[in-house]
Amino acid sequence: MKLSRREVGLGLSAAALATAYGRPGWAQSPVVIKFSHVVANDTPKGKGSLKFKELAEKYTGGKAKIEIYPNSSLYKDKEEIEALQLGSVQLLGPSTAKFAPLGVKEFEALDLPWLFKDDHVYDTAMKGEVGKYLFKKLEAKGILGLGYWDNGFHMVSANRPLLNPADFQGLKIRISGSKIADRYFRDLGSIPQIMAFSEVYQALQTGVVDGCENTPSNYVTQKFHEVQKHITVSYHAHLQYAVIANSKFWNGLPADLRQPLDKAMNEATEYTNGIAQKENEDALEEIKKSGKTELHKLSDAQIAAWKKAMAPTYTWAKGRVGQEVLDVLAKELGIKMTG
Ligand code: LMR
Repeated sequence: MKLSRREVGLGLSAAALATAYGRPGWAQSPVVIKFSHVVANDTPKGKGSLKFKELAEKYTGGKAKIEIYPNSSLYKDKEEIEALQLGSVQLLGPSTAKFAPLGVKEFEALDLPWLFKDDHVYDTAMKGEVGKYLFKKLEAKGILGLGYWDNGFHMVSANRPLLNPADFQGLKIRISGSKIADRYFRDLGSIPQIMAFSEVYQALQTGVVDGCENTPSNYVTQKFHEVQKHITVSYHAHLQYAVIANSKFWNGLPADLRQPLDKAMNEATEYTNGIAQKENEDALEEIKKSGKTELHKLSDAQIAAWKKAMAPTYTWAKGRVGQEVLDVLAKELGIKMTG
């Protein structure tokens, strides 16, 4: 296939273009599958994608070649979703907070504050009805959900201690995309700003934003803790990814590729979910040891005050994500959706 200059300039592989223009990508040999993501290799998602590469190449006997592009090296947050729809990348693992541009706002319900009591509750929900319900929503958009990958709970940081809701007043806080996060930071009196992950470090360093939320593994690998004087280990919301493929591409793979690739993905999913908690514990330890920031834990009374301040997000959420997903969550988690 002869590539136009624009296509060459965009760095699209022949396999990706073949897919984009109707000729199946698997007609190439080996099939090149690009997996783009925005975090470092040394994170649960980074390690999970490398595990997928190792297993997929082994199980297909080299008939599939998996190219991993970490750290936004191929696409940034918004572009990668467009690239998947166009067929210029085959696999992504975005955080579910970034799914609204795909036309499925329901995923944002997972960002509700204090929704999952712990990782076990989260894991059970995603393996159960919640996970199934959300993947079903993707189908109509031509996207296939292959697995949910865990990355633990969010901390929150700034250059002043964030212990009481009043401490958030007037702070510009970077968020990744979810309107639910936008809402709960507004409930606390701060000013949320959506920003691509690759731009956060510099924005914190130069004061474009005052603070952010993320998991320990993302803080340590992006060095956010080096440009934030105070981090609250609040674990107020959960960060999870959905590994997704373009349905046409994945469903169009011949069985001798599809089966080993599905097997590799299932095993990589188990692997990632098996290491996520420990990776984050280790990252938190590393942050502590670095001495570059002060870590804070919330008292029970402070947690209660945060929950109370953020409770309006639950009432507001219905208009954003719809009652249906809230009902699915409430049933699966055995809770009332009141915050
Ligand atoms: C973020 O943008 O904050 C995160 O979702 C990045 C990631 O993929 O963990």
